[in-house]
Amino acid sequence: MSTRREFLERSGVALAAASTMVHTSTPAQAAEGQSVTLASIGVGGQGSSLLKTFADMPDVKVAYVCDPDEARAAKAAESIKDKQSPQTLADLRRVLDDPKVDAVVVATPDHWHGPATLLALAAGKHVYVEKPCSHNIREGRLMVEAAERAKKVVQVGTQSRSTGYIRDIFAKLHGGIIGEIVVAKAWNSQRRKDIGHLQPSEAPAGFDHDLWIGPAPMQPFQANRQHYNWHWWYDFGTGDAGNDGVHELDVARWGLGVDGHPSRVAAIGGKYGFDDDQQFPDTLYTSFDYPGNGSVGQKKQLIFEMRIWSPYKQEGFDNGCAFYGREGMLLLGKNGGYKLFGPGSKLIEEQTGKVDTQAHRRNFIDCIYSGAKPNADILTGHVSATLCHLANIAARVGRSLEFDPAKEEIVGDVEAQKLVGRTYREGHWAVPKV
Ligand SMILES: NC(=O)c1ccc[n+]([C@@H]2O[C@H](COP(=O)([O-])OP(=O)(O)OC[C@H]3O[C@@H](n4cnc5c(N)ncnc54)[C@H](O)[C@@H]3O)[C@@H](O)[C@H]2O)c1
Repeated sequence: MSTRREFLERSGVALAAASTMVHTSTPAQAAEGQSVTLASIGVGGQGSSLLKTFADMPDVKVAYVCDPDEARAAKAAESIKDKQSPQTLADLRRVLDDPKVDAVVVATPDHWHGPATLLALAAGKHVYVEKPCSHNIREGRLMVEAAERAKKVVQVGTQSRSTGYIRDIFAKLHGGIIGEIVVAKAWNSQRRKDIGHLQPSEAPAGFDHDLWIGPAPMQPFQANRQHYNWHWWYDFGTGDAGNDGVHELDVARWGLGVDGHPSRVAAIGGKYGFDDDQQFPDTLYTSFDYPGNGSVGQKKQLIFEMRIWSPYKQEGFDNGCAFYGREGMLLLGKNGGYKLFGPGSKLIEEQTGKVDTQAHRRNFIDCIYSGAKPNADILTGHVSATLCHLANIAARVGRSLEFDPAKEEIVGDVEAQKLVGRTYREGHWAVPKV
């Protein structure tokens, strides 16, 4: 970190002008004279949105924009040229080599989240990593351990955690407004696109395919993987359970009030909506069992439903959660607010609301200054991402799983346990070191 004056001088922003640029949520710590030098790693749709937010913060200097797609890196740098003048490059190692960089934003495909975060933490950087924080359960655990070792801030991109109306209603929920919450249901119901059936082809000029593949098993370029559609391929994505689903799974787990992992998972799913190259289910029903000490009053259940070929808004929300308490029910939409029902299904409270991505991003910078735990710290992100990974594994092997929450191992199922980790490209520099 550098002082605010050094940063402003470096970036050529006049001090007088800068004082009028203060963002309403800029914290006291920044005003006291600090700034953060940041690099964006991965600047597709989400990385560009993050870049814009951070570039607009008067106490953040964007030093690098990094992407193996030359055109995307150039376009992203161009988009912030009025405020910042970052260097563009393709290889994230060059970013991590620079001691001036305090923090990185990892908005790559999922298969890079763990490896890039682990390398960044080893280089002493704070990390904002997009959700799901990991490609698989084992990498999530490595990330938790690495963050503890490095004592750096790791914020995961599940922005509901910084959203005022959700925090407020959960304070009431956990205060017992509808009694003990026994079951939570999360759903992800929306219409995605068919990705067709394609064959490998030549990678476009200016796109470094080798860097994009990174530590995943090498395979030829195929146009229905890059960009975005990698979500639906086992080696790179986590399906829609790990895409939009993980937001709802995280909120459902939070509202249900369970900190740890479930010990049983049942899932049934497959491809009912798309006849294309997607490998993950487009339709999925999962239930997670949290037995507590086995007695009534301790046991909880989380249910997840996913249909990604359906335009239907369930209970008025395409993505949402329901919390079933002994005295009522809470319906909560990702981008719709909530409805709280008491006994006799009586509507007792209603509010509209929108997820607050800006607050979540600001929380990352604030925590770098204060050393506080961010709203979606890596352990929180790992426990929630584990739900999407377990759902995918159970659907893939086609049977229920027993999970050991302490060891993070699937018990008595060698084939499923293999999917707790993944296969890497042999000898690649970004393969996580145990
Ligand atoms: N928090 C949210 O609400 C939210 C919303 C959308 C996406 N996301 C997440 O953001 C991430 C990116 O999603 P997207 O839609 O922008 O995908 P995308 O495919 O459009 O963009 C990913 C970018 O990362 C780049 N990349 C790949 N390997 C890289 C490497 N080694 N170094 C640097 N860059 C690399 C790609 O070239 C691409 O430009 C995903 O994990 C996704 O789940 C989060």
